[in-house]
Order: sequence, then C-alpha cells, then structure tokens
Amino acid sequence: MLKGKNIVVGVAGGIAVYKVVDIVSQLKKQGANVYVIMTQSAANFVTPLTFREISGQPVTVDMWAETTNWNVEHISLASRADLFLLAPATGNIIGKIANGIADDMLTTTVMATTAPTLLVPAMNTNMYLNPIVQKNIDKLTALGYHFTKPESGMLACGVEGIGRLPETKVILNKVNQLLSQKNDFVGKKILITAGGTQEAIDPVRYIGNRSSGKMGYALASAAVARGAMVTLISGPTHLIVPCGVKVEYVESAAHMREAVLAHYADSDIVIKAAAVADYRPQNTAEHKIKKTGEILQLTLEKNPDILLELGQLKAHQVLVGFAAETQQLVLHAQEKLARKNLDMIIANDVSMPGVGFNADNNIAKLLYRDGRIDELPKMSKENMAEVILDKIHIECRK
Ligand code: PMT
Repeated sequence: MLKGKNIVVGVAGGIAVYKVVDIVSQLKKQGANVYVIMTQSAANFVTPLTFREISGQPVTVDMWAETTNWNVEHISLASRADLFLLAPATGNIIGKIANGIADDMLTTTVMATTAPTLLVPAMNTNMYLNPIVQKNIDKLTALGYHFTKPESGMLACGVEGIGRLPETKVILNKVNQLLSQKNDFVGKKILITAGGTQEAIDPVRYIGNRSSGKMGYALASAAVARGAMVTLISGPTHLIVPCGVKVEYVESAAHMREAVLAHYADSDIVIKAAAVADYRPQNTAEHKIKKTGEILQLTLEKNPDILLELGQLKAHQVLVGFAAETQQLVLHAQEKLARKNLDMIIANDVSMPGVGFNADNNIAKLLYRDGRIDELPKMSKENMAEVILDKIHIECRK
C-alpha cells in the first residue's frame, strides 16, 4: 500500500519523539520513502543520526545548513510529499501552523506543502485541553488538516489523562486511509450553495432561516479533497471556508441567483444545499422601521426559484437539489425532483431533533429520476457529504 509513497515526517520537540522512531521504521517496512525534518528541540530528545539510520535518508534540522542539494530544500520536500505526517504535534507547533508562522525548516515546509497533512498531537493533558490549543485544532481541521486523537493513560509528566501519542498501528492505519483517499472528481467543476438567505425588511432587520451552512460546507470540503474545483456560493455564516474552495458570499435569494447563474454554464455538477427564502418583503424600508401601533404588516412577494430556473436551463450539468420537509418527505421530494428537472434530490426530514438545520448530523433519503430511493441512516454531515458524492459520481458516469 505505501510502496513508493513519499512521506515527510515532521518531528517536533516532545518526549514522545522516541516513539516516532518506530513509526518511521514501520513506514519504511511498508515500502514508503521517508524523509524526516526535525525541530531543534526534537533533536534534544533523539539525535538526527537515529532518524537518518532508520529512514536511510539525510535528516533536515537546520534551515541554514550547507547542502549539497541545489533544490531549495523545504520547497523540494514540500512538493515531493504524498503525505506530511507531523508527530508528535506539540501545542507550540500546532499554534504556529494555525497562525501562519513559518520560522524553521519544519514549519516552512508544512506551509509550502499541498499534500494531505496529518498531525498527531501528544502533550500534557492540561496543555491539550487548553482552549487555545483546542481552537487551533478546530481551525486547522476546518482548513482541511487531519488529526488523530491522543490516547489516555499515564503520561511522562506523571499525570494520568489524555495526551499520549497513539500506538504506531493506529497512526499507520490513518496514514494508509489518507493515502487511499479517492481522487474521483479531478477535472470536475462543482458549484455548491450553502447556508440561508437573508431578505431585508429595513437596514437592521431581515427574514432568515435556521440554516448554518454546515451541510454545504461539508460537501465543499469533501469535493475539494476528492480533486474537484469547487465554487461555493454561501449565505452569511461564521464557518471557515475549506482550503482550496473558492467562495462568494451572498445575502438575499436574488443575490444568490445572480451568483449561481454566473457560474452555471461552466459547471459540471451543481449541488443546491442552501435554504433559500421563498418570499421576501415587497418593499425594503430605507430607514429603521419605528414602533407605531400594535400590529405591523409586511407584504411578501415571491422570490425567484433558482433551482427551478437551473432545471429549465440544464444542458450538460448534473443537477442535485435538497428538500427540507417536515411531513410527507418522499412525496414532496419526488414532486420537486420532477418539477425542477433534477438528477437527484436529498430529502431530509427537518422535524426530527438533532438533525437537519444547524445540527452536526443529518438523516436523508436520496431520490433519483428513475424512482430509486437510497435510505441513509443518521450520520455526520461530513460522512453524508462523502456518500452524496459517491452517488453523484455514479450518476456522472451514466
Ligand atoms: O445548513 P445546515 O444547518 O447544515 O442545514 C442543512 C439543510 C437542512 C439546510 C440542507 O440539508 C437542506 O435541506 N437544504 C435545502 C433547504 C431548502 O430550502 O429546501 P426546499 O425544499 O425549500 O428547497 C428545495 C430546493 O430548491 C433546495 O435545493 C433549495 O436550495 C432550492 N431552492 C428553494 C427555493 C428557492 N427560491 N430557490 C431554490 O433554489
């Protein structure tokens, strides 16, 4: 599986460095070419010589050392990598990467690589649970970096808790998993919409909905990881845009329609996960509406149905919609699939607790033009995004 793969192993300064010697040895045994970069503090725990002997390759520590190689070393290692493995990932190195600091050979190489990067945190329990470290991990995860969870047990500092480097076989499994990731959307242009629209009532108020954008962002993240060129048309949200995704922010349905139509002709696949307002105030007040009487009446007018329009204009595109329903899920979804000329619709029952709008999980049925229905169990939106893409990939081949 790892035969011929180039794995760059970044080693930061923590007591778990000695365990990384075994990881490098096992990667070699599985046929990988392993290149080790150490920080100066890692070299205080285990000498570069040990890693050189085990990996069979020169070990880089000092960015300014004389080199016989004419390549700019950190760029050369960064582009050679099929995978970047950083173990142990200390709180310090995680913080540097999360904040764009590149002040040594290891951090400059991480910054320069486009390879999947797996960080294996190992540190004292309180350090690991420190909110700053956790925020940095969340930030990097949202940007597409991969993490393993530390194991619990007796730590070198004499404290019992979470923070131990996982066993070598756990790390090797994750490495194998990342290297076998599908690249099945290379060359495909995917347009994804996410989040809810906001329809202005006056300069400070709007009509909106509970969509967080999580489902659409999970799709964008999975699609870009599988090689697609992804344009994300996003309603207002605080979510971090996945690395490699081109984003355009919109507010209203009319604004979303403009952005979607501008990219439509050039897209191979369109996935409309956004919750678009069906109605908007007929007039938007120029100034903040003042309290006057007991009742305030708003007149609403219909918004354009973007997906309906895409269905009418459809040429070569695979068109995928979502249906958010609280009753008669399949019936309503079937009607939308046919009326909007879709290839597939993801019907989610948004009346169930813990799924749908603003939740981390979703439950859905996938409906196709020929009447087939796939029932998906409750799963994370990240996993659902992968399943949806698997199914779209099959539809693309038809
Ligand atoms: O964002 P999250 O918090 O993660 O929640 C995810 C979700 C529940 C919003 C998502 O999974 C979902 O169901 N999105 C579609 C919500 C919706 O608007 O459903 P609908 O049944 O009203 O619309 C059907 C389809 O037509 C949708 O693809 C929608 O984008 C599209 N539409 C609807 C109205 C309109 N004026 N224009 C449209 O393009």
